[in-house]
Amino acid sequence: MQPETAFARISETALTATDPPNDYPDYVGTRLRAPKDPLVLLPASLSELTGPVYGNDALRETDADLTRQHAGDPLGERIIVTGRVLGSDGRPLRGQLVEIWQANAAGRYHHSVDTHDAPLDPNFTGGGRCLTDDDGTYRFVTVLPGAYPWQNHPNAWRPKHIHFSLFGRAFPERLVTQMYFPGDPLFPFDPIFNSIPDERVGDRLVSTFELGLTQPEWALGFRFDIVLGGREATPTEEPHDD
Ligand SMILES: [Fe+2]
Repeated sequence: MQPETAFARISETALTATDPPNDYPDYVGTRLRAPKDPLVLLPASLSELTGPVYGNDALRETDADLTRQHAGDPLGERIIVTGRVLGSDGRPLRGQLVEIWQANAAGRYHHSVDTHDAPLDPNFTGGGRCLTDDDGTYRFVTVLPGAYPWQNHPNAWRPKHIHFSLFGRAFPERLVTQMYFPGDPLFPFDPIFNSIPDERVGDRLVSTFELGLTQPEWALGFRFDIVLGGREATPTEEPHDD
C-alpha cells in the first residue's frame, strides 16, 4: 500500500549518504537524542497511509506570504524564496505540501522556549506553507531571518536559515531540512551545517541569490531547489528545534 513516490522510498530508509549522521558530537543535542541501537523499520499502518493530510482546501492565500499574516508589515528585509521540488529522476513533484518556519529579522522565534534577548515582531509569526504547482515550484514571501545564539557551545550562533518540511502523500513521508543564505560568515562555526559529511553536498542547502527573482523596489529573490533521492539529493535531517 506504500505510495510509489520519491518520499516513500526515501522515508523508508534511515539515512542516505548525503544526510548528516544522527550522532554528531559537536552538535550537542545529538548526543542525547541519537539512537544507540540499530534502527527498526516499523511497517506503516493502513491508517497512516490512507488518513487525511493537508490539501488545497486547508491552505489560505496568506499562508505563503509571511509578510501579510498580521495587520502591519513585519520589520526586516523582504525576500522571495522559491524553487522546485524534484524527484531523483529530475521530474517535478506536484501538489506537495511545503512548510517553512523561521526566526524573525532580529533572530528570534515566535515561540515560548525562545528566550533570545531580541525583540519579537507583532507582525511576524514565521510560519508558512504552500503546495507545489504542476512544475514542482513552491514560492514564499517572507523576511530575511536573523542569526541567533543557541548555546550549543560558547558563543554559538546559527547562520541565517529557514527550516523546510515536505510532506509526501501520507504523514510518515515527512522530510525536514534547512535552507541557508549565500556567503554567511557563520558557516565555518556551525556544527549543524558542518555535520553534513561532504562539503559539496552541504552546499546544496545554500540558496542562490537570483536577480531575476527579485521584484524591483520591493524584494530580493533566492532560489532553493530540493531534490529527493539520487546523487543530487538534498540532505535531510531529524526534526529538531535548532
Ligand atoms: Fe532554526
